[in-house]
Amino acid sequence: MKFVLSGVKPTGIPTLGNYLGALKNFVRLQNSMKDYEFLIFVADLHAITTYQKPEELKEHIRTVAALYLACGLDLDNLTLFIQSEVHEHVELGYVMQSVAYMGELERMTQYKDKMQKQVQGVTSALFTYPALMAADILLYNATYVPVGDDQVQHLELTRDLATRFNSRYGETFVVPQVLVQKTASRIMDLQNPTRKMDKSAENPKGCIFLTEPLDQIRKKIKAAVTDNDGIVRYDVENKPGISNLMSIYASITEMTFQQIEEKYHECGYGIFKSDLAELVVTEIDKVQKEYDYWINSSELDQILNEGKARASMFARSNMRKIYEKMGLKR
Ligand code: AMP
Ligand code: TRP
Repeated sequence: MKFVLSGVKPTGIPTLGNYLGALKNFVRLQNSMKDYEFLIFVADLHAITTYQKPEELKEHIRTVAALYLACGLDLDNLTLFIQSEVHEHVELGYVMQSVAYMGELERMTQYKDKMQKQVQGVTSALFTYPALMAADILLYNATYVPVGDDQVQHLELTRDLATRFNSRYGETFVVPQVLVQKTASRIMDLQNPTRKMDKSAENPKGCIFLTEPLDQIRKKIKAAVTDNDGIVRYDVENKPGISNLMSIYASITEMTFQQIEEKYHECGYGIFKSDLAELVVTEIDKVQKEYDYWINSSELDQILNEGKARASMFARSNMRKIYEKMGLKR
């Protein structure tokens, strides 16, 4: 069995960044990688590395699960589950902490950023989180891991940990490969286009949430920060706002930046933004209609139960082998 595996943290309502950078990409990959089984999960144990209100976390876990299905993942080739329901993730997460060095974890930019931003205490779970992420992947010997570009460093660490474990204890893990898309691997905040669009951002104006009213989405796109020269041209350095909008446009239409530049050659930003708003709204409208079905359906629970059972079966068997290699068996 060969696996493609990925997860999303339920720290809020998923954004257009999650959709274009992750969810929609999973659907695309499912269509082109028919020999692989897709293991997709809600990374709830990762969410609690920063404090989550219990009632909100519960709601967000279900929202993320329903959104995965709403985006059109093919159920015939999907194991969808909730991370905390397969307890081997935590077991292997601890094992991975015994393989990871402090120095390696200290170098993770996501940790360094959070450390700088957070006024109150940074938790030890936030620090060790890449070890848990490595465990999520290695537990199933996943071959490919599609992620946005903020996760690439964690994937490199995962590969190092797998290699180190294999050389210490003998060939055990498949060393996974990262899959990053060319466009939309980092959608930026609409109000602050040098920052990643993030579901837990303080200012929701720069962020498009997948479940928000369509009219509000249109407004946010039209109010996106651009520049004063009025030329639709891709130039991340000097025109980060318009370049970000062009990435969104390119990702939805599969047009190249050059084609977009030619199409909007004689237009100002107004027309471009209106067209983009309609493209995004049409796309999200489809997702919302499906979402309304899944979030209220008992079929969602059934899929999650089946996913839990299937993921647990692989996890249990691999965990036994891992402990044996390490001498942790009578
Ligand atoms: P997270 O929301 O951090 O759990 O991320 C879930 C997945 O979405 C990961 O593969 C991220 O790399 C991807 N992702 C998150 N934010 C963005 C963004 N702004 N642009 C592109 N991909 C993203
Ligand atoms: N850390 C990822 C994020 O913040 C989510 C995640 C957790 C993940 N475990 C994973 C992604 C394993 C891919 C594979 O986006």
